[in-house]
Amino acid sequence: MDKFLIEGGNSLKGEVKIKGSKNSALPILAATLLCEDEFVIENVPLLRDIFTMKKVLEILGVSVFIEGDRVKVDTRGAVGYEAPYELVKQMRASYYVLGPLIARLGRAMVSLPGGCAIGTRPIDLHIRGLKKLKANISITHGYVDAYVTKLKGSHIFLEGPNGPSVGATINVMTAATLAKGVTVIEGAAMEPEVEDVANFLNKCGAKIEGQGTRRIEIKGVKKLHGCEYKIIPDRIEAGTLAVGAAISRGEVFLKGAKKVHFESSLNKLKEVGADIIVEKDGVAVKMDRDIGSTDIETAPFPGFPTDMQAQFTALLSLSDGISIVREKIFEERFMHVMELVRMGADIRREGDYVVVKGVPYLYGAEVMASDLRASAALVLAGLSASGTTIVRRIYHIDRGYENIEERLRKLGARIWRQEE
Ligand code: EPU
Repeated sequence: MDKFLIEGGNSLKGEVKIKGSKNSALPILAATLLCEDEFVIENVPLLRDIFTMKKVLEILGVSVFIEGDRVKVDTRGAVGYEAPYELVKQMRASYYVLGPLIARLGRAMVSLPGGCAIGTRPIDLHIRGLKKLKANISITHGYVDAYVTKLKGSHIFLEGPNGPSVGATINVMTAATLAKGVTVIEGAAMEPEVEDVANFLNKCGAKIEGQGTRRIEIKGVKKLHGCEYKIIPDRIEAGTLAVGAAISRGEVFLKGAKKVHFESSLNKLKEVGADIIVEKDGVAVKMDRDIGSTDIETAPFPGFPTDMQAQFTALLSLSDGISIVREKIFEERFMHVMELVRMGADIRREGDYVVVKGVPYLYGAEVMASDLRASAALVLAGLSASGTTIVRRIYHIDRGYENIEERLRKLGARIWRQEE
């Protein structure tokens, strides 16, 4: 297991190119299973989760070649229908093969993902949506066991108690591309990743409209074909590095970042005192004031993303006031809080929110990463803390940020990876 050693105190300065979106790349790679053909997917980030998806596809009989940020996929020939627990437990997003497999083969056995550090994360909406398409689904021995002769289009309301679901919208939309007739998904997730997957599917010959809105309409087609497709930039990576600029009182140009993808984060950064300049080829973030306080409530897109909550909590722990940060998507996504407290932050949890009283400085400490975004928050805190911070269990951060220490070092950070 590796750890990060961070000497805090340097401002981040310079330009960094934003990598492709993890949460687009995963379902797009899974969706190649829909047909028998070749694909070239560009701008794929080289992350642990992408390598896990590669393994899932390979176990199903698909060839996957990674050449830099281009991934060649060949889905010709027979494919299997079982995604085993060993892989799904490593990465929940393995369940993205469920929709494509049931649509192509009429059969899928996908392990249930099990528990997660950030909340219960059920997959009932995925199952509800696929059942509406007339798939027969049961849960047997920890697996989702699905079969169907032919999926049929349907009118589906897909919202759950916490609002729309990115994963369920993508799984059901993907399956519906090959269903007989028209499918309408109401209460669809509007996240840019959903739109990206729909655009990819349309390039493969699907007929999807309304992606990026609450109502998606899919006209089923008989067959899809391969294509070349470029993944959108990762809005959460962009947001994390933007917070990095702000927390370290630096100035960073996020090359390739698209304002419309992370406007709610940029607006919050402005509110706490950062300057944001939107250019044609990216977004600049500069902080030369004291960090102000603000209140945050996470919400589905275009609201403030849950995936940026931990990073902003780290930032607000250095503000000049009191902030309330409320988590409305994943009830347990507060594992970073006690680690930040170990670094001198003054944060108190009250149910689904935390009260963050700004302190003048954080100090280095040994801390433990618990999930992907929590570990990003600890790295950001370490950049601004006085003294040395050691972040353990950084395999979490490798799931979602490519080569983060090297890219932060290029911006002036003092951060090194060490083997335990
Ligand atoms: N939900 C249900 N039933 C379901 C599915 C979801 O009740 O069948 C609930 C969830 O428990 C949650 C809410 O609906 O309260 C929204 O969850 P969603 O399904 O949208 O999340 P997801 O698809 O499992 C994706 C991202 C997450 C991101 C969320 C929310 C991927 C691979 N994961 O998860 O990303 O936090 O959307 O935007 O796309 C991350 O990258 O660190 C990460 C956790």
